[in-house]
Amino acid sequence: MSSNKPSFLHGIDMSRLPRHVAIIMDGNGRWAKKKRLPRLWGHRAGAKTVREIVEAAARLGISVLTLYAFSTENWTRPKTEIMGLMRLLFRTLRAETEELNRNNIQLETIGDISKLPAFVQSDLAKAKAQLAHNSGLKLILALNYGGRQDIIQSVNSLLKEGPGKATEELLERHLQTAGLPDPDLLIRTSGEMRVSNFLLWQIAYSEIFVTPTLWPDFKKEDFYRAIIDFQKRERRYGGIG
Ligand code: IPE
Ligand code: IPE
Ligand code: MG
Repeated sequence: MSSNKPSFLHGIDMSRLPRHVAIIMDGNGRWAKKKRLPRLWGHRAGAKTVREIVEAAARLGISVLTLYAFSTENWTRPKTEIMGLMRLLFRTLRAETEELNRNNIQLETIGDISKLPAFVQSDLAKAKAQLAHNSGLKLILALNYGGRQDIIQSVNSLLKEGPGKATEELLERHLQTAGLPDPDLLIRTSGEMRVSNFLLWQIAYSEIFVTPTLWPDFKKEDFYRAIIDFQKRERRYGGIG
């Protein structure tokens, strides 16, 4: 086989993978409602999808996967749901860190995690440390994350550095995603056509893929489909192609 022929896996052109995929994992509540189950069961089913998609992304060789797990606005939900989500995060981290390690995955977070319960913070720190030496997929969990807050904290850091001219490069250097490529592909499940305060600055030229599939029903084949769709797009960045 000639080496300059593109190689395909699941119909995906492996030479043109998105470097950074960001996902708004939405629809856990509606999934549970459809099944007349408590919302938390939807979140549990959603955690299984996280496992499947993280593994699929790692196997494909994607560099960065950012998952929107808890927004700055999600604190407005009932306390019981918030605590349920925090416990689920804690349990999932405990159960999955070994497997993440086997898959050579690194773990990072964006968002103000100092506001999360102490038990979640300490487990996150442990998991990050355990996975720090890996060199494969960079898995970034957005926890208590808001795009506007991200921009504001960057501006504040810039101001602290003293007077000077703000530039795109300087502002980017202080965003929580500093050093990462901008998302090439932004996926949102469950059909909502909005960005809900996710990476606002960073998605300026991301390709957006919205699927009606609810997050707990989203399978690796759906993930591959999103990537194949992405590979058909013509990215023009304001030019004429
Ligand atoms: C996404 O599912 C998970 C989080 C926001 C934590 P939702 O809980 O928003 O589910 P819907 O939108 O109510 O269906
Ligand atoms: C976005 O989903 C946040 C996460 C997926 C963590 P939401 O369900 O909170 O967003 P809205 O309320 O539909 O905009
Ligand atoms: Mg939602």
